[in-house]
Amino acid sequence: MEQVDGTTLTGVSTTTLWTLRNRAEEAAREDSSFSDPLAEDLYAAIRFDYAAFGGPSQSHALRARAADAFIERYLDRRPDATVVALGEGLQTSYWRIRRPIRRWLSVDLEPVIELRRRLLPDESAVEHIAMSALDRAWMDGVDPEDGVVITAEGLFMYFEPDEVTALIGDMAQRFPGGELFYDSIPPWLSARTKSGRMRLRGGYTAPPMPYWQTVGGAQRLLEIPGVEKVEDVSMPLGRGAWRWAPIVIGALSRIPAIRDKRPSFTRITFGKNQIR
Ligand SMILES: C[S@@+](CC[C@H](N)C(=O)[O-])C[C@H]1O[C@@H](n2cnc3c(N)ncnc32)[C@H](O)[C@@H]1O
Repeated sequence: MEQVDGTTLTGVSTTTLWTLRNRAEEAAREDSSFSDPLAEDLYAAIRFDYAAFGGPSQSHALRARAADAFIERYLDRRPDATVVALGEGLQTSYWRIRRPIRRWLSVDLEPVIELRRRLLPDESAVEHIAMSALDRAWMDGVDPEDGVVITAEGLFMYFEPDEVTALIGDMAQRFPGGELFYDSIPPWLSARTKSGRMRLRGGYTAPPMPYWQTVGGAQRLLEIPGVEKVEDVSMPLGRGAWRWAPIVIGALSRIPAIRDKRPSFTRITFGKNQIR
């Protein structure tokens, strides 16, 4: 793979190097069950001061595994569905999910899409769309007939709350029978980022993340027309402490005061029978 300069990415787009680094470092570990050789190659190809992100964490590999499982579950039922990865960054999910996929749309901002086009293998099923996920034009190219499965890993927290609810509402109208997976941070973490206090050990300060969601509060999304079901998705089991942490967190989550303080993964189902 050719060598490229990661400093072409700025603002929120720089965070895609943080999550790529974490997935690649996790994939390279012998004691990890997360495998992603393409992420390792990408990481090696992009020159950047990765130490600014502090030490690696397996959290982003676990999030990727949860999103992969979500996509696979949908494709098991609707194998011809279109997959849409919003804010896809340098994810290599298409290559990790080793099964035929008819259409995979990758939506991100221009500088990120430029890196994807340069570095990732050409695939007839994968289409790159250099556009904000908030621009509804990406929806025009998606035929909902055979199903639509959408992921937004590490994206919604960077949006304003009303932007997220409007986007979910529009997806519900455009993609009846579709499903959406995304991750959220709790209010205390959002407040830290907004005050510029989310500084990683290596010195990188995470951008403000205005959108937060609690597990309990997520049920309010059912008020959005077309949203049929809102479910909390558990974190897959990882290694070391993360072998047990998801089980402990799941048990403690029966206590709302604890449940609503943790980050979460959400699956939303859009109703089939809605007025369009
Ligand atoms: C934390 S990174 C996550 C990247 C990738 N999803 C992952 O998990 O590795 C955030 C991503 O959101 C993208 N992004 C930020 N604002 C966006 C927008 N308005 N529309 C689409 N993508 C956006 C950034 O360019 C970046 O790739």
